[in-house]
Amino acid sequence: MPARGFYVTTPIYYISGTPHIGHAYSSVAVDIIARTARAHGPARSLTGTDEHGQKVAQAAEAAGATPQAYVDALAPRWRELQIAYDTRFDDFIRTTEPRHARASLALFERMRANGDVYESVYEGWYCTNDETFWPESKLIDGRCPNPECRRPVEWLSERNWFFRLSAYRDRLLELFRTDPDFLRPQSRYNEMMAVLEGGLDDLSISRSSFDWGIPLPGGGVLYVWFDALINYISALGWPDDPDGRFATFWPGVHVIGKEIARFHTLIWPAMLWSAGLEPPARVFAHGWILAEGEKMSKSLGNVIEPFALAERFGADAVRYFLFREAPFGTDFSISREKLRQRLNSDLGNDLGNLLRRSLAMLDRYRDGLVPEPTAGSIAEGVSDLPARVRDHVLAMRLREGLDEIWNLVTTLNRSIDERKPWELAKAGRGDELDAVLYDLCEGLRWLSILLFPYMPSKATEMWRQLGLSGTPEVRWPDELTWGRLAAGTQTDPGLPLFPRLEPEPDETEA
Ligand code: MSP
Repeated sequence: MPARGFYVTTPIYYISGTPHIGHAYSSVAVDIIARTARAHGPARSLTGTDEHGQKVAQAAEAAGATPQAYVDALAPRWRELQIAYDTRFDDFIRTTEPRHARASLALFERMRANGDVYESVYEGWYCTNDETFWPESKLIDGRCPNPECRRPVEWLSERNWFFRLSAYRDRLLELFRTDPDFLRPQSRYNEMMAVLEGGLDDLSISRSSFDWGIPLPGGGVLYVWFDALINYISALGWPDDPDGRFATFWPGVHVIGKEIARFHTLIWPAMLWSAGLEPPARVFAHGWILAEGEKMSKSLGNVIEPFALAERFGADAVRYFLFREAPFGTDFSISREKLRQRLNSDLGNDLGNLLRRSLAMLDRYRDGLVPEPTAGSIAEGVSDLPARVRDHVLAMRLREGLDEIWNLVTTLNRSIDERKPWELAKAGRGDELDAVLYDLCEGLRWLSILLFPYMPSKATEMWRQLGLSGTPEVRWPDELTWGRLAAGTQTDPGLPLFPRLEPEPDETEA
């Protein structure tokens, strides 16, 4: 853990888009990382919505609304997504808030004062859907080169402000070379290195043919990506920093989808340098969730609806699936059938049954009271587990974190099979029986603490069934020492954690 505060962010989502599972994926990842960081020290997380730009202006016009009324009507949907997936953010920023406009203009002014901003004419192509300027050489068949978009581009001829991005190429190269972890995974790092080696053009950072954006003195509005990136520091209170949040939490860690790595790792650090600020500490560009091998899109009709998914399987099971199914950073496919299978096997059989069997045995042999710990426990084997989980999660190895936790699930299940409490009870070997039962309860207490970042509500339910007060949101270094569970604790078994789900017609594999 860094000595200072830990700060982690999601991309801010285009407000006019429909929330889908990919957005939930980024938000849950950041939530898992932030909850883990909070268990060790000061930490903050941020999400929000990206509300300016030509696309929003056009959509509002088509809907017959003012852009402000249009975005206000859409904002609640994005908060609902956070509720549906139980992601808890310290802040939710909308780029239409005054605090954001103030910071964006201040950054622009600083860059201008430093001689990095000049006026010129942008003559070239623009993809409104992606809000991206494209050089002619990048177009594919005259269309937007983004494989998910491929929409027609429009020709712009506008007198705009430009950022001298080209001047930062060497400094960016140096950043990439001296800190290979600046951008992970390696595939994205290689991709951005190749872009850098090819050279960087200056970037138009304002628009003058419409007015839905942050207005600039003298006319025009800020280019939507320029304003969007600034959300990460406007939400910290920059530039005035009245609460010292910027001083404590910047630089932060950005979690993004792989398609927006260029904005975050080439343009954003250069903007910050230009204003005399530090670049982000790290950027992690994750892969895409695919539906049967293809990127989800409305036109393919294969979009997995995130609200319905959380309702059917429960937010915690989906959260678990997203980070157990594939290494964080790669593309992977999702299907309701795969999700159901993991829910029944990993969550129902491995974890849910472990809790149920352990508490049932404790009830039968010890009236549900946690026995006095005795010698011969599994403690030695697990003492460095919390540090390993923490290191994995804070380094974005979210699957490896779960794998480690699952080793404890397996160890506890194995200890039931091998130490056979029912035989110990029959043979009157009370001390050994106490040892197994204590291990199981203490192991389950550890599991609820370690799993809390991944599955907050199920982990809390485990905690409750163990008869513990409060919640499993505790400081790991203090609470994850073996033996803290007090003898005499009265457990309180409840309903199965993950009741078995039978397939619905559309979940059966053909
Ligand atoms: N508004 C910009 C980001 C500005 S950040 C300063 C934007 N918004 S978006 O609504 O298009 O959201 C993109 C993000 O959503 C991706 O970077 C990724 O985090 C997430 N996902 C959207 N679809 C996805 C998948 N199919 N799979 C995984 N995540 C993807 O870009």
